[in-house]
Amino acid sequence: MRLVIVGTGGMANSHARKFGELDGVDIVGGVDRSEDRLSAFCDEHNIPNRFTSLEEAIAWGEFDAVANVTPDAVHHPTTMPLLTAGKHVFCEKPLASNYADANEMATAAEQGGLINMVNLSYRDVSALQKAHELIAAGEIGEVRHFEASYLQSWLTQPAWGHWDKEDRWLWRLSEEHGSLGVLGDVGIHILDFAGFAIGASYQSISCNLKTFDKAPGNQIGDYKLDANDSFTMMAETSSGAIGVVHASRFASGHMNDLHLQVHGTKGGIKVTNTGDLGELFVCSGTNLEKAEWQQVELAPTPNNYRKFAEAVMSAVNGHPTFRHAANLQQVLDLAVESNKDKGRRDIPKSTQLQDA
Ligand SMILES: NC(=O)c1ccc[n+]([C@@H]2O[C@H](COP(=O)([O-])OP(=O)(O)OC[C@H]3O[C@@H](n4cnc5c(N)ncnc54)[C@H](O)[C@@H]3O)[C@@H](O)[C@H]2O)c1
Repeated sequence: MRLVIVGTGGMANSHARKFGELDGVDIVGGVDRSEDRLSAFCDEHNIPNRFTSLEEAIAWGEFDAVANVTPDAVHHPTTMPLLTAGKHVFCEKPLASNYADANEMATAAEQGGLINMVNLSYRDVSALQKAHELIAAGEIGEVRHFEASYLQSWLTQPAWGHWDKEDRWLWRLSEEHGSLGVLGDVGIHILDFAGFAIGASYQSISCNLKTFDKAPGNQIGDYKLDANDSFTMMAETSSGAIGVVHASRFASGHMNDLHLQVHGTKGGIKVTNTGDLGELFVCSGTNLEKAEWQQVELAPTPNNYRKFAEAVMSAVNGHPTFRHAANLQQVLDLAVESNKDKGRRDIPKSTQLQDA
């Protein structure tokens, strides 16, 4: 597979490293509007062909697939011409800035018969894969209740850099820059984490979004720091379970922690992203009465990069698909709507398809 990386900023380094480890994958080109960033990135990862516009790369055309690692609001305008040109696309999350755009991308990829996957990267956590498998096999019975959180603290300390002075985090901090705040940035991850483990889609949600004062003046250059920082959501799944999902970047004491607890009629499961494989605990069978939890031993599972490469090479689409990510985008759109009156919103049945 000949791969081009579009957008050569921070996250693109992970794509270059992870795709670079795979047999049968050649990273043949890089695209970025910033010539300096493009050169530094391509030099570091030994990438031979460099383009300062997507149009130039498409005109050159000597590649099969693209890793789209541009900012959130750029995913749609860059992915659509790539699909038209017949290229397979592995897109960063969230798929787009709204459901209409995400749906257009999913439909175009499906109609073109192209491989389309989204980097919902916590699918790489082996503990999550095992939790999905155990719940699907009935280990905890029928799921009734869940709680899921994604906790970060990068707005309370400088461990990830000086977000209050530099402009490179604006896509996470400013609505005008295309940010849907913590909801779009990490909310999509935790919604996917919980829904995938449970094996059900979201049927209705009610969401409270909160934007805090972030920095003196709440402004960097022309951009207001007005994107939401914390959310709490109540959710019901298509399988009838209810739960709470929440996330914050003001969660002091947590660097980047996902936690999920799922409770069923026959047991419970706890999943975290701790360490290389994550951690998984189960309370079921004879342990139920004393509420004793046992840690489950885990084996590594293939990451999204490998799954995308295998999908392109076998011509069979992999998961998570554009369609799944578009459906999650619908949940995000309705969460924003619901925040206006703090009311409940039902997710249309047509967008409740759950990923495998
Ligand atoms: N899956 C994950 O866990 C994870 C983690 C971090 C970031 N991300 C996602 O990755 C994406 C990129 O994030 P980042 O932190 O690398 O951002 P970044 O700002 O560091 O890099 C984005 C790059 O895209 C370039 N770019 C912008 N418009 C372009 C265009 N039209 N054509 C070509 N290049 C263009 C910018 O110049 C920049 O170099 C975002 O969608 C983000 O949500 C995902």
